[in-house]
Amino acid sequence: MAIQEKLATGRGKFTTEYPQLGTGPVDYDDAVSEEFFLAEREAVFKRSWLKVGRMEQLPRTGSYFTRELSGLGSIVIVRQADGTVKALHNVCAHRGNKVVWQEHPAEESAGSCRVFTCKYHGWRYGLDGKVAHVTNEDQFFDLDKGALGMPALHCDTWAGFIFVNFDPHAQPLRTFLGEKFVGVESYPFEQMTERYAYKTRVKGNWKLSIDTILEWYHPPYVHGRFINPDVSKAEKLVPPPDSYYYDLFTSHMLNSVPGPPPLPPRGAGELGPAKRDQRWIYKLLRAGLFGPDDIPDLGALPDVLNPGRIKSWGNDAYWLFPNFSVQIWARNYYITYQYWPEAVDSHSYELDIFFVPPRNAAERLAQEMTAQTTIEFAMQDSNTVEATHSALATRANRQFHLSDQELMIRNFHKVIRDTVAAHQALGKK
Ligand code: FES
Ligand SMILES: [Fe+2]
Repeated sequence: MAIQEKLATGRGKFTTEYPQLGTGPVDYDDAVSEEFFLAEREAVFKRSWLKVGRMEQLPRTGSYFTRELSGLGSIVIVRQADGTVKALHNVCAHRGNKVVWQEHPAEESAGSCRVFTCKYHGWRYGLDGKVAHVTNEDQFFDLDKGALGMPALHCDTWAGFIFVNFDPHAQPLRTFLGEKFVGVESYPFEQMTERYAYKTRVKGNWKLSIDTILEWYHPPYVHGRFINPDVSKAEKLVPPPDSYYYDLFTSHMLNSVPGPPPLPPRGAGELGPAKRDQRWIYKLLRAGLFGPDDIPDLGALPDVLNPGRIKSWGNDAYWLFPNFSVQIWARNYYITYQYWPEAVDSHSYELDIFFVPPRNAAERLAQEMTAQTTIEFAMQDSNTVEATHSALATRANRQFHLSDQELMIRNFHKVIRDTVAAHQALGKK
């Protein structure tokens, strides 16, 4: 039976379950307006919890890494002696030099140390950011050393992900995440320490990139190479729109997706048949876009996965307001996507793929194959984003017509617009 018939549920449309979304055309000025971009930075990015890394990046006391966050500043994330993590503004109390950097001040760095030493006049800071030593201290006047330091900002962790918040009055991270998101921490993220990291700059608004991961309407057209170069065949190979599962629970969202069943286990020394099209390499390495065919054993998995109990489950993609997504795959690996705005028409895009450490060369190659195809897949999206942004910027078309399977895009832009409007209303009071 064709996949379209096999997975169809006949459940009808989803958007109408969320009446606040409406069904009319949507204005995309939020993706091209310079004024909106600046308002969004204030209302959204300076006031939300933002994921900045993973605990595995801080293996011991004194491990640190810096993040250069465009429009927000440079911060240092550092592990304390008690195992907790602190985030500090990367600025010296003396004359404001950036304290932690290696070869080039604009580049991110990582390492391990006992104290941070400013490269300008040698002031030293403890891991908690407090001033530990002032050079030529007797030359100063009434210096209250104990009150000086690299200013801290809110920092907390969830499921091994490290988050910061630039707002001094931030609500607790767990309140921000909400109950459903908090429940996902029972997934064994900590077992997946093999990380493939990819980063690039995309010439388009950051929200347009997120739009590409919020719907599965485009794959037969944008990713035809991976499905079938003949579009009419590709269209038949993707699951039907009613087979997906959505939960727009707060500002955050979940989308569960069907995927192909894994291959049967192969016999020792067996490669499987090879074909002369692109897929021969998938067969040879037993991996593809949906992950390695030989699934690592993670033990019993939490009930939180595939909450919609969709047939032939492929992955759960959680989207966390404003710029982060965690995609948990049925084949026991996960991917994170993150989008950092730099200007109205440019953002930095980070794609990280996490596996359990491979036990042999075959597992390593299967992971490499999955990582490479995922990156290729993502770059096909980014290409399209650049094309979309350049056309949108002309403002020749301002209205967009979103179908039912684009309901998360409708919600995403609404949540961002509402957050900006609420913040502006507060300022006017
Ligand atoms: S600016 Fe850091 S020690 Fe002078
Ligand atoms: Fe895509």
